[in-house]
Amino acid sequence: MHDILPEDQPLWQYLGDVCSEISNFYGFGRIETPILEYAELFVKGTGIGSEIVQKQMYTLKTQGGDFFTLRPEGTPPVVRAYIEHGMSNLPSPVRLYYMGPMFRHERPQAGRFRQFYQFGLEIIGEEDPVLDAQVIQLFSAIFKTVRLSEIIIHVNSIGCAQCHPRYKKVLKDYYRNRVRQVCADCRQRYKLNPLRMLDCKDEKCQRAKAHVPAILDYLCEGCHNHFKAVLEYLEVIGFPYFVDQYLVRGLDYYTKTVFEIFAGNVQPSEATSQRIALVSGGRYDGLVKLLGGRDTPAVGAAMGMERVINLLREKNIAPPKHAPEPRVFLIQLGNLAKKHSLKLLEQFRVAGIGLQESLGRDSIKSQLRLADKAGAEYALILGQKEVLDDTIIVREMEGGIQETIPFETIIPYIKKQLAKQKKKKK
Ligand code: HAM
Repeated sequence: MHDILPEDQPLWQYLGDVCSEISNFYGFGRIETPILEYAELFVKGTGIGSEIVQKQMYTLKTQGGDFFTLRPEGTPPVVRAYIEHGMSNLPSPVRLYYMGPMFRHERPQAGRFRQFYQFGLEIIGEEDPVLDAQVIQLFSAIFKTVRLSEIIIHVNSIGCAQCHPRYKKVLKDYYRNRVRQVCADCRQRYKLNPLRMLDCKDEKCQRAKAHVPAILDYLCEGCHNHFKAVLEYLEVIGFPYFVDQYLVRGLDYYTKTVFEIFAGNVQPSEATSQRIALVSGGRYDGLVKLLGGRDTPAVGAAMGMERVINLLREKNIAPPKHAPEPRVFLIQLGNLAKKHSLKLLEQFRVAGIGLQESLGRDSIKSQLRLADKAGAEYALILGQKEVLDDTIIVREMEGGIQETIPFETIIPYIKKQLAKQKKKKK
């Protein structure tokens, strides 16, 4: 778990703003769900067979005997809220986005945190492949806006409940003579859900799957056509893609399309072994029904915000500057001046002029030094005498020229001076 310090905030704010603006443009409404949910929601939703539920959940027992989990992901909570608030009565599809902390008890390593932030999108209510493409397009737009290029998407289809039994049988046949060559977890998976064996990071398992038949050859006609359409839309969007037949994703609810977005030219073997996807997601046509709603198709994805922030840092991408640095510094001397300073600061805020101060300091020397360090163009000096005379001293920092002016004219005076300075600089 990590702190996000003041110096980190501009990048976080920037990324968050870009995500919100683009989501709003595309008609997504923001949703915030509680950080704690009944453990059952994830056991059922994310899936009892998933690594998240088996190994990574922070679950606590309350005094009343309930089990709550710090949410490890956003999709089941959003679906719960969709059902609970009757959103199926809204015009379909319902488009929702969220941003906030998620919690997973992971082994610490690069790009993996135990508390991390996700920005996620969910489109609930339709199964048209154009919506799979729209989710992907939004992330493409976000990456373009924050100037991250060389982004690639790995995409696959894992079919539906109709395709699964056939393919599972094919996998069982394939692994029957190889089951000794795979890791202990995969031996379990062989019995419970052989599809997961394709996703294993273990080197032995990577070798064992070298000649595995592709799931794409075993899709039913509906899933085949759906996937073909998704790829056609990706061509239209112009998003570089790679069909990764081993991509199955580790959460139980996925059906049909699954995808992961990476920075740079990540090879399929790296994709599964290193797992540093910036975004992952897919379609989950069965989850709403599983959690007690009507049979409702849906698609979505989530971005690991730390991973994108780290990439922005690596590439020296800074947020565009909006607010100018404060150019005026307030120096106060004595108790009376301190009281006036509180009022003055608020007047500057209302007037939209940045004003820095150091209210905790008393000596003029140290305050002038701070003003200099802050790069202020003007220092306002307010002492006992000025307060009694209803005046204030304005000091031009560069030349050291000082002028005493009536207190109530300070805002228009400073505005004029700053405008003059701006013209001079041009
Ligand atoms: P996920 O693949 O578990 O999917 O996580 C989505 C993204 O969150 C990952 O691609 C990664 O960028 C980031 N992430 C995951 N775990 C960590 C971690 N420990 N530290 C830092 N970043 C991490 C989901 O959570 C699904 N709910 C996505 C989804 C939405 N599918 C449909 N709708």
